[in-house]
Amino acid sequence: MTEKANIAVVGTGWWATTAHLPALIAHPRVGKIILVDINPEAGRKAAAKYNIPASQVFTTVAEAKAAYPDLQGAIIAVTHHAHTKAAMDSLEQGLHLLIEKPMTIHARDAWAICEKADAIGKKILMGYTFPYLAHIIKAKQYIDEGLIGEIEYVACSMSSITYDLLKGHPEKFEPPTGYVVTGPTQQTYSEPLVAGGGQSVLQVTHLAALMFHLAPELRAKTVSAFTNNLEAKVDVVDAFTVRMNTGALAIVGSTGNIGMGDAGSVEVHLHGSKGRILVDGFTGEMFMRLHNGREEHIPRKDPGYPGDVPVDKFTEIILDGAEPWFPGKTNGLYTVELLEAALRSAEQDGMPVQIADLYK
Ligand SMILES: NC(=O)c1ccc[n+]([C@@H]2O[C@H](COP(=O)([O-])OP(=O)(O)OC[C@H]3O[C@@H](n4cnc5c(N)ncnc54)[C@H](O)[C@@H]3O)[C@@H](O)[C@H]2O)c1
Repeated sequence: MTEKANIAVVGTGWWATTAHLPALIAHPRVGKIILVDINPEAGRKAAAKYNIPASQVFTTVAEAKAAYPDLQGAIIAVTHHAHTKAAMDSLEQGLHLLIEKPMTIHARDAWAICEKADAIGKKILMGYTFPYLAHIIKAKQYIDEGLIGEIEYVACSMSSITYDLLKGHPEKFEPPTGYVVTGPTQQTYSEPLVAGGGQSVLQVTHLAALMFHLAPELRAKTVSAFTNNLEAKVDVVDAFTVRMNTGALAIVGSTGNIGMGDAGSVEVHLHGSKGRILVDGFTGEMFMRLHNGREEHIPRKDPGYPGDVPVDKFTEIILDGAEPWFPGKTNGLYTVELLEAALRSAEQDGMPVQIADLYK
């Protein structure tokens, strides 16, 4: 097949220049790469690093599509509060979307994006990564085969080294070799009006999406939560309790304050009527124990970080009509619902929040 996907990257900051652009450039099925950033300097810097002609750099998606009518998809990699506008602008131009996490801050916005995409027949892939790992694919296969039965209880826990980002110190997060083009700005993950939250929207979003991917029948119904900002303006430590639509119960917790160099954990432990299964996206571990005594264990071994896979899956959606692994309307939306309800609950000292109330 010689057909190639023409893709715009909307938001050319830290993550786009670190993960998406190298993946696009290396991909044999990607044709034109278009850059869009409201900050022209950000677009220029990314273009210079990756030898993209200035004629392919824009400040709006509308201008990009006008200049390149054969554009087919957009990768939304802007700051959290800008996701909704960037996604809507791109749908306006008739593009399929790969949206970075979290899909949006508010469930109503995520729902509106999904409805618009459906109305024009475009697909949404969420930019999650952990479920592409082999040990997690194995766990999902067992769960889909019904080995652990009906999910009754889920324990999710994530610890990661994000505290400096949440406090507005991206320079402390810089790898020894330096940022590829740029790091996130001071505000990206620390200012509530830009970030829309802290560890919850930056990291728990991965954890919750992994749970909803492994057990897609679950959707939060009621959430009660506490958060602690430590010395940041946004949440750093989170403890949520969730009642699902199926009656299953979940606890979802996280901290961004572990020591540099610590790989941390992103652990989803599902307990069903016939057994339990645990996966950890950071350590590579998978453990299954069924009520009938069967056990299976994949021991800890660094599984790497599949940051380039979303681009590959996105090209399959554009060129082959493939279905998204993490669709906006289920995986993206359900995750936003849980996080928005949790942050609302935490503001009210743990008062239970009904998901239905997010839409009133
Ligand atoms: N999947 C992962 O592992 C992973 C890792 C890091 C970041 N991310 C996600 O990537 C996204 C971007 O994060 P980042 O750290 O690169 O942020 P950043 O602040 O470094 O870059 C964001 C860029 O978006 C631009 N922008 C803002 N609003 C815009 C708009 N309306 N239209 C066009 N451009 C706009 C900004 O000018 C900036 O250049 C976030 O959603 C973040 O959570 C994902």
